[in-house]
Amino acid sequence: MELLDAVFSRRTTNGPFRPDPVSPEHQQLLIRAAAAAPSQFNSQPWRFVLIEDPTTIEGIARISGESMTQVMSEGTFFHRYRKYFRFSQREMDETRSGMLFDRLPAPLRPFTGQVFTSSGQKLMNRLRVPRKLGEENRKLVAGSPLLIGVMLERGEYRPEALSGFYSVFSMGAAMENLWLTTTQLGMGIQFVSFPMEVPENWSRITGLLRVPDELELMAVYRLGYLPENSRRPAIDWSSRERKLPSQFVFRETCESPQTGWDEDSRPGA
Ligand SMILES: Cc1cc2nc3c(=O)[nH]c(=O)nc-3n(C[C@H](O)[C@H](O)[C@H](O)COP(=O)(O)O)c2cc1C
Repeated sequence: MELLDAVFSRRTTNGPFRPDPVSPEHQQLLIRAAAAAPSQFNSQPWRFVLIEDPTTIEGIARISGESMTQVMSEGTFFHRYRKYFRFSQREMDETRSGMLFDRLPAPLRPFTGQVFTSSGQKLMNRLRVPRKLGEENRKLVAGSPLLIGVMLERGEYRPEALSGFYSVFSMGAAMENLWLTTTQLGMGIQFVSFPMEVPENWSRITGLLRVPDELELMAVYRLGYLPENSRRPAIDWSSRERKLPSQFVFRETCESPQTGWDEDSRPGA
């Protein structure tokens, strides 16, 4: 696969994976690709833990599903991230960013505009939507043949110091390499982020993975081979939408937006 094909076809996977284990060769290649990333002073601050044990995966899946149900039923999730949600194509066309919630669970569709109000929240809870979504999330994680946890050395990851920024930047580069490599291997990948929304649940995962004190668990991903066909789920964490160059690129100074590029801005154009 050509580099640019991989860059433009890289996606976040929302749906289930095939149950087949990820081959040892592919696991090794994913990590080699990650380790090829740049890092400050070649510090390579990242560490990875590969998880295939079904008991551990099931444990993390349960924590993920519970976390999703909790933050969705308490309203914290919607409150925190409201600014990224779009409820119509028109809204999406205006912002060209965020995520389109055009496939809300059927019972909620008539109340789309109210989902983020307290009455909408009560209705969602009465219809047990957070529980259903949490269960869906648990199943997705539990059905993944491989989880990868990425950690940073605490000596580098010091949020108050510049090295903290550099280590996160380096980890981002490593993860993008790994993410692009999944594209070439016919695999998919998705953040397992709900446990991070509930600090005590994140600590439970840190405990399950026996993360030592000198490392900080930064993120957990689920991975696997992609099935032939997959349905778009109710909450779609993936988006093809991107801002136009004139919305985020400047020329010479930040007072002059780039002009003339918007026409060719479709991903892959
Ligand atoms: C820092 C970061 C955090 C993200 N968090 C999540 C997440 O919690 N759950 C998820 O499914 N996707 C997550 N994503 C993926 C984005 O939702 C996704 O990249 C975006 O919607 C664009 O879709 P695409 O990756 O398919 O191009 C995250 C991506 C990044 C870089």
